[in-house]
This record gives sequence, C-alpha cells and structure tokens, in this order.
Amino acid sequence: MKVKEKGLTKEEILKIRKSNFPPTAFLYYKDPIQLVKAKGNYVYDENNKEYLDAIGGIVCNSAGHNHPKIQEALIEMIKSDEIQHTSTIFLNEHAAKLAKKLVDEAPKGIDKCSFTNSGSEANELAFMAARHATGEGMVVNLKHGYHGGTSAALANCGQHTWRFRAQPVSNVVSAQAPYCYRCPFNKSPENCHMECAKDIENTIQTSTSGKIAGFIAEPVMGIGGVISPPDEYFHEAAKIVHNYGGKYISDEVQTGAGRCGKRFLLSTDLNINADMITMAKGLGNGAAIGAALMRSDIAETLTGKLYFNTFGGDPYQTMQALKTIEIIHEENMIQNAQSMGKLMMDNLKELMKKYELIGDVRGRGLLIGIELVKDRKTKEYAKEECIQLMEMLKESSILVGKGGLFGNIIRIAPALSINKDEINRIIKAIDESLYKISRK
Ligand SMILES: Cc1ncc(COP(=O)(O)O)c(C=O)c1O
Repeated sequence: MKVKEKGLTKEEILKIRKSNFPPTAFLYYKDPIQLVKAKGNYVYDENNKEYLDAIGGIVCNSAGHNHPKIQEALIEMIKSDEIQHTSTIFLNEHAAKLAKKLVDEAPKGIDKCSFTNSGSEANELAFMAARHATGEGMVVNLKHGYHGGTSAALANCGQHTWRFRAQPVSNVVSAQAPYCYRCPFNKSPENCHMECAKDIENTIQTSTSGKIAGFIAEPVMGIGGVISPPDEYFHEAAKIVHNYGGKYISDEVQTGAGRCGKRFLLSTDLNINADMITMAKGLGNGAAIGAALMRSDIAETLTGKLYFNTFGGDPYQTMQALKTIEIIHEENMIQNAQSMGKLMMDNLKELMKKYELIGDVRGRGLLIGIELVKDRKTKEYAKEECIQLMEMLKESSILVGKGGLFGNIIRIAPALSINKDEINRIIKAIDESLYKISRK
C-alpha cells in the first residue's frame, strides 16, 4: 500500500493545530499519530507504520476502512457525473432507499426517517419533535450520558468535561445512571429491584411539573464508559416515561449499525419501547450522516412546520450508508460482532482473574469497556494506569479509546469484521501491558 509521499509533516500539523485549533480539540497519546491510510481493520501513519484499529475511527468504522464495495461505488458515482449535491427539496433515489431501509430495520411502528449530518443534530431533531408533540419542555436524561456537542445535546450531557460555563441547560433534568459497577444506590444487580429505573420516576415527580416531553438514553452509554444496563432497565424506563406523557428517545449513535446485537439496532433486540431512535457514526462507515427515526404519530404533529438540513440526505452520504448496511448483512458482520464480542469479553474476564487493576469488563457485542481501578474495594479511578495502558497498546500497534467521567475506562469498538486472530492479538497485548503496569 502506498503511503503519503508529500504533504505536511507531523510537526507542521502539530504547529498549525497549536496556533489555529482551539484548546477544545484534544489528541490521544503523548506523541500523537498522523493517520494517512487505512484498509479494513488497519490504519497507517505517515511512515507506513501499521496499527490495528480497535476503536474503529471513533466507533464509526463498522464495515471496515475503505471497504472495496464502498470504494467502487464512490468511484463509479464520481465518474458518472452523478449529482453530488442536491437536497431533500428535490427527489433523489439514495435518500429514499435509505429511509426505507432504516425503517425496515427499526422496531415496528417507527416508520419516518429524517437525515442529518451528525448524531448531535439527530438528537436535536428528536428533542424538538418530543417537545413539539407533547407541548411539554422537560427532557429527562441520564447522569454520565453523552448525546453530542450542539446546544440541546450538550444540555443533556451528564459529564462536566463536555459542558461549558453559562450555557442554557433549562428544561432538562438528570436521573441516576444504571451504572451497576458503581451503583448510585449501593445495590447489586441481584437485589436492586431496578432502583435506577425507578429513579426516573422519582426525578419526574420531584423535579418536573409531573409531565415531561421525553427521555433520552443510550442503550449502552459509550463515552460515559460503556455503561451497559440490564435488559429489564429499558422496559421499566419506557413504562415510566410513557406514564408521564413523555417520548422515549433511544440514542443508537454508537450502538446501532449492528455493533451490539443480533439485529441492526439494539433497541429491536432489547425490545425497547422507543418512540424515536437516533443514529450516526457506524451508519455511514465514516461518512458524515445521521438519522432520526420516529413514530408516525410524532411526525404527524409536525405537520405545517418545516425542517430543513442542507446536507442531510445528500446523495453521497446516503449512498455510502446504504452500501454499508448492504455489506454488514451480506458479510454476516452482525453475527461476527456477536461472536467476536463474546470471545473478547470471555478473554477479558479471564484477565480479570490475573489483574486486580481490572475492576469491571462490560458491554454488548463489539462495544466493550474495561474499567481500571487502583483498588477493587475502594474502586479508586485508575486514570494514570489507563493512560499507560493506552500508550503501551500503541507501542504494540493497537489503537483503543478511553472514556468515563474520570478517564479510567478503556473502550474497544473495532470494525464488525474483526477476526479471532486480531481479538487474540489485542488480548495478548493487554495481558502483557497489564503485567508490566502491575509490576511498576
Ligand atoms: C451516544 C452518542 N450520541 C450522540 C453523539 C454525537 O454524535 P456526533 O459527534 O456525530 O454529533 C455521540 C458522539 O460521540 C455519541 O456517542
């Protein structure tokens, strides 16, 4: 594979970033990596050093980087002079086909689809629709949740690091997170009676008028540290939300596109009684596309109003999303995500027996978190050790992500095509790195 022959050096890029990027732009690693090429599960720096991408870009790489079928389709589209930009004001087959496909993949009753450029915008649209449909303002979210960088999405973010001073956060309220490892009620899953789900009701009763517009939750809370509630949580949560007149928004920006379940959407697998589902990231395999899916009765309430998004539904993005879904099914990637996710999880659980530093491993399918703690009793956040582990994995040419309110959770989310050998390689590298860290 040919790598970059000319262009800015790493040092030049760093210099420009230092001068011209705001300090909100963050980088992974002491010595940041410049990525210039990619294929499948592998990415390459400017010196052609290969890395196994175990975080999938940033949980976007579902079908694998530069999948040949997507490359071919893009080349064909460019060569044919097919229209590059048109909006949903005009008819276009790709957006229509994708809307139909996503509705087919969604739980029964969810049959309308709007396109956006990102997950944040999809969530903005869902908040707007929930508020418009109910005539209520209040949205309940979860502590530790993340829903994007735009205004309403940020207002619903349950982590201080992503929130900015003096921003309006009215009309939102946070319920306790279903964080079993650090249960806010000091219970264990065997005897908790779903206290965390009941907290949604308590929050509504104590902090709202008694009526709400909606509730938003990720089926697995990715950036919060891959917090993965038990299945019953979602049934209880939806019941409460609906009892108080709210619309349930299932944020599948990370969990969707086959990453976590037996089917394309985790909401379908978990039988979540959602009114709206938002998607992005893996939907386009890296193309900038988001979608907000909703029930007809909610969409109908918007009649007489206009929603427009210049690039939402763009032919290139929608074509790539369609191809991605096609590939995911044709190449049995959802089944692979399940079996490879299980293999990874089983191996990580074995490593837990060896290393006290691993406090918890959790997740669904190929969305996996390893929570590191300095002490299993006190559960003190092992933030420095998490950074060390990331750096050591980088030395072993493996890229992973980091998450959690205190940055002590390793996140793993490779392309859905990852194989056994690659999983074993990741496990071996984690084992060797933890051995060294434990002996320091
Ligand atoms: C669960 C979840 N929702 C929404 C978003 C926002 O998506 P975007 O960055 O595409 O706006 C993210 C991004 O990380 C996410 O993880």
